[in-house]
Amino acid sequence: MKTQVAIIGAGPAGSLLSLILHQRGIESIVIERQSKSYVLDRIRAGVLEWTSVELLESVGLGERLHKEGHRHDRVKIGWRGSEILDIEFQRLAGKPMMAYGQTKIQEDLYAAAERENLNIIFESSDVEIHDVTTDNPYVTFTTNGETQRVDCDYIAGCDGQHGVSRGAIPFKRRSEFERAYPFGWLGILSETPPLPELVYANHKNGFALCSERNPMLSRYYVQCPLEDTVDQWSDDRFWTELIERLPPSIGEHVVTGPSIEKSIAPLRSQVIEPMQYGKMFLAGDAAHIVPPTGAKGLNLAIADVHYLTEALVEHYAGNSAKLDSYSETALRRVWSSVRFSWWMTVLLHRFPEETAFEQRMREEDLAYLTRSESARKSVAEQYVGLDY
Ligand code: APR
Ligand code: PHB
Repeated sequence: MKTQVAIIGAGPAGSLLSLILHQRGIESIVIERQSKSYVLDRIRAGVLEWTSVELLESVGLGERLHKEGHRHDRVKIGWRGSEILDIEFQRLAGKPMMAYGQTKIQEDLYAAAERENLNIIFESSDVEIHDVTTDNPYVTFTTNGETQRVDCDYIAGCDGQHGVSRGAIPFKRRSEFERAYPFGWLGILSETPPLPELVYANHKNGFALCSERNPMLSRYYVQCPLEDTVDQWSDDRFWTELIERLPPSIGEHVVTGPSIEKSIAPLRSQVIEPMQYGKMFLAGDAAHIVPPTGAKGLNLAIADVHYLTEALVEHYAGNSAKLDSYSETALRRVWSSVRFSWWMTVLLHRFPEETAFEQRMREEDLAYLTRSESARKSVAEQYVGLDY
């Protein structure tokens, strides 16, 4: 097979990239290891920056997003038991956020892929990247027991944190920056009405977060030790712990019910530099991981795709400046989101080895945010995301 851009991975990054390229007259083939239903069943992020909403609208994915998404003009942060910090990002930063599950975005992307006849090859194994430093790069893989080869101009590595693309950058040519956090998030889904607002909490027992997927589907998280397993967390234990960690005036509104999903995820920050090697470009989780605090992961993947499509479109029109600087451009936003999600993680969790001093520093940050509108404005601006 032959195409202009071979895309590895059909998560949000790869499938959005293929869709936008198609709309801008550039052909691609997407090679995905899993089946379509496997990708659609993954439960992932849930909050979109407004720039992400606008980008999805601009490629024709705005209708269901606006019908089923839930706009949020603020978040609340509970701390020191009963204090509540209110960050009104619509008023302070001029933009709202949108709660809309990644699962729905993935469904919308696959529906658009079918409508527009995109070429996504699911259940492709043994993907290998070849000759990226030559003018004739290609990708090989196995599907239905046969080896296939795709010749292309460029390769987009959109294969997430466990993909093969980043490994195509020789060890000596890449830098990896990493921070693993000494705790995990235990997350549940329950078919109960969510709270009207997103609520984060810092409590002596640890972090908590109340979020949503739709009017009858709530998503909640509590910080837990990394060694814990879901068997140790009955629904009763989860609800008791969640409500204890919230300010009482918020906790009393939580509607409990049986969980329909329960899992534990570790928290990590990681950046791979550069995001380009020869004819290969990385986008999304293939190049960077952020802890979920602050909801930046999916938004960063969408931003990378925006920069990469703009760069490829201009390149095929005869100007390669943006393509040459893709890594530098994308990494500026990556590092700013990595810093913000690290900061929110440190602000809102309890670390196992910390002393009372660290907690006082944290509470001083929260007290300053409570007193100063400029401080809240700075957080609001970073939470909703800067313009591209
Ligand atoms: N060959 C082909 N496909 C692969 C390979 C491989 N070797 N390895 C991984 N993949 C596929 C995965 O099965 C997955 O469908 O690449 C896709 C990567 O998708 P995501 O992990 O969702 O990553 P990305 O598209 O960058 O989206 C980022 O996902 O993890 C969240 O917080 C993250 O919300 C953010 C978003
Ligand atoms: C989610 O809804 O899953 C969610 C929301 C906000 C976050 C992280 C996750 O900061």
